[in-house]
Amino acid sequence: MNKFTCVQDIGPLDIALANAMDVKVNPYRDQDLGKNKTLLMIFFNSSLRTRLSTQKAAMNLGMNVIVLDVNQGAWKLETERGVIMDGDKPEHILEAIPVMASYCDIIGVRSFARFESKEADYNEVIINQFIQYSGKPVFSMEAATRHPLQSFADLITIEEYKRVARPKVVLTWAPHPMALPQAVPNSFAEWMNETDYEFVITHPEGYELAPQFSGKAKIEYDWRKAYEGADFIYAKNWSAYNDPNYGKILSKDRSWMVDSDKMKLTNDAFFMHCLPVRRNMIVSDEVIESKNSIVIPEAANRVVSAQTVIREMLKSL
Ligand code: CP
Repeated sequence: MNKFTCVQDIGPLDIALANAMDVKVNPYRDQDLGKNKTLLMIFFNSSLRTRLSTQKAAMNLGMNVIVLDVNQGAWKLETERGVIMDGDKPEHILEAIPVMASYCDIIGVRSFARFESKEADYNEVIINQFIQYSGKPVFSMEAATRHPLQSFADLITIEEYKRVARPKVVLTWAPHPMALPQAVPNSFAEWMNETDYEFVITHPEGYELAPQFSGKAKIEYDWRKAYEGADFIYAKNWSAYNDPNYGKILSKDRSWMVDSDKMKLTNDAFFMHCLPVRRNMIVSDEVIESKNSIVIPEAANRVVSAQTVIREMLKSL
């Protein structure tokens, strides 16, 4: 595997899940695979889980790890070609990428949507430059439109907890004080649409995801109907995708928060969220602390998803 930015890059999901279970049962078996190999993790945005879980995954595989926080201690990078660099950015990404690549064997990149241009965000200009100019395998640690390591961990978690072969999985929008990218819901939808689960997305009108991500999901504007009989409730906030409101907050309606009354409509559903989560905005204390909350095992599976992907990349070197 030379690239991991979307569900198609992982290949058939049954094989990917079997590989993930193998990694989970035997986390230290492939330590020789990463010997004398270096992972460079580049962060344009903050992280807790991705940073720690990916580093742990690489260490489980015997790799050396270098972490660069672009906005803390590195030169500010210009990312647009053709710009007269007379501002506050002394280095261009087109030099920085091959230099960084010369120090490592595999590169992980985190670069969120900037909301300056929908076209730039949805063309994934940052991570695609790493793929084009680094000459090294590149994986996404959350890009502008997708968060595939999170979605893979979500899928692993659902497979571990599901009580029926074909669970009803509901992705619900929930309110948030700031405008957030669509990467997590886009990606979650993309991965769910590759399964045979019953998959429903519920959100206020105006929060429709790009059609290439919502795909065959049932869109239900009435959260009561969506919650009925659900086996998994996956909560997330996102900003508007459709023009002219791209990247904007259209609603902070607190009635969309996941609370105990809503969970009573479900089939004793498990609660999921990628974290970090704002309590009592997205989800009530009661729900996230309940026995049905699986946010911690979900986060723990981030090591498994990252290790499965990095292991495949190491095999391809
Ligand atoms: N879920 C997730 O990616 O968490 P971080 O932003 O903390 O990495």
